Amino acid sequence: MKTRIKSILVTEPVEQVLTVCGWVRTKRDTGSFSFVEINDGSCLSNLQIIAAESLDNYAEEIRNLGTGASVVVRGVLKKSPAKGQAVELHADSFLVTGEANADTYPLQKKRHSFEFLREVSHLRPRTNALGAVARVRSRLSYGVHQFFQERGFAQVHTPIITTSDCEGAGELFQVVASQEKGKNEHFFGRPAGLTVSGQLQAEVYALALGDVYTFGPTFRAENSNTSRHLAEFWMIEPEMAFCDLQGNMKVAEDMLKYLLQDAMDNCSEDLQLFDKFIAKGLLKKLQSVVDTDFAHITYTEAVDILTKSKKKFEYPVKWGIDLQSEHERYLSEEVFQRPLIVTDYPASIKPFYMRLNDDQKTVAAMDILVPGIGEIIGGSQREERLTVLEARMIEAGIDVDDYSWYLDLRRYGTAVHSGYGLGFERLIQFVTGMANIREVIPFPRTPGSAPC
Ligand code: 4AD
Ligand code: MG
Repeated sequence: MKTRIKSILVTEPVEQVLTVCGWVRTKRDTGSFSFVEINDGSCLSNLQIIAAESLDNYAEEIRNLGTGASVVVRGVLKKSPAKGQAVELHADSFLVTGEANADTYPLQKKRHSFEFLREVSHLRPRTNALGAVARVRSRLSYGVHQFFQERGFAQVHTPIITTSDCEGAGELFQVVASQEKGKNEHFFGRPAGLTVSGQLQAEVYALALGDVYTFGPTFRAENSNTSRHLAEFWMIEPEMAFCDLQGNMKVAEDMLKYLLQDAMDNCSEDLQLFDKFIAKGLLKKLQSVVDTDFAHITYTEAVDILTKSKKKFEYPVKWGIDLQSEHERYLSEEVFQRPLIVTDYPASIKPFYMRLNDDQKTVAAMDILVPGIGEIIGGSQREERLTVLEARMIEAGIDVDDYSWYLDLRRYGTAVHSGYGLGFERLIQFVTGMANIREVIPFPRTPGSAPC
């Protein structure tokens, strides 16, 4: 039975015989023994192995071990006399299960650039930074389920293949059966695509179960090669019946704070690495987000601040434009210096499902903008009035017959309801301080690139 390095470092059962399995990070030889640092992915820390020349495979195997080789080591755990580690394993059996040729193994001891590591996405989780990202990602995913389950939300598995375009931005990837079999007929009887959002289907379940959430992959064929866009990303979308925009914003703020605190409580070693090498002051920033109320302004107020500022923007600002990343970041980083919720955007730049405000010009939308990222959450109160919704759909050029099921939700037992979408990768960027979104998803898909 193997023991994981993380539990060894936490419980430190010295003088016990343990078996540890992992990959060699470094090796240092002295006259009669070698120090071998191994990592098993359970945590950032390595375990130091003392391999003495009395081991029968010492001369021909251990002495030639390279970075990246896999090993299974059995030995006695002892308090380490040297600085740098509390314990070390004195090997009495040292099996090399997979060699890694030092001349060809791409990950050598030195630090590699993230750009280079993207070219070896099948090996990069073995590095300190990408391994830490993977553990933080896993913990945040767990935290999401924990947050919603603790509050009585039911998880709904919304479809990946869909015939409705939630955001209406024309970014649907088409789904077609293979040419021979499909003979140009629609496999599903009508055009279908990969979902851009599970919201519309989440609404169906919210108007039956009350509070629901969906957490799954979403796809957008948008040609934006930026540090915050992916063609395939994961989204968390809660949807709540009998809940207005105020309630929606409250859940979103509580959720973000909960997830940040949970990550700080459970991933402190990994977050310290990011704080030290990737984004100085990260932990202080995260703690201050947890401790401070988010700012609130309307879109109209935001436009006012932006037009009065002396800052030169690439995209000029006037009422009616969609806020760009540079505007969002200026507001959250320079003006408010904390997360900020912008509400009541012009109806003309937002999707058909958002509830029309009494001014007939704006909708009950809310975006949450955070320093370093810009938009991390987009949500709204939904239009629950049948006639208003129909009019908005016709205006947007949507065939209402295709969405009769969606309109039924307003025909039968309609209710005030709201929800939002949190971009999971943008959350991980925020928590880790990683500059590029390609580093926070195991296998990034961007225009022109989908290795593995
Ligand atoms: O603002 P968006 O487009 O909202 C929706 O899809 C709604 N249907 C959500 C809802 O109300 N249930 O996307 C939500 C979030 C954004 O705030 C952003 O964090 C993330 O999804 N996002 C992306 N993340 C990575 N790559 C992309 N291409 C993204 N597009 C949106
Ligand atoms: Mg948005």
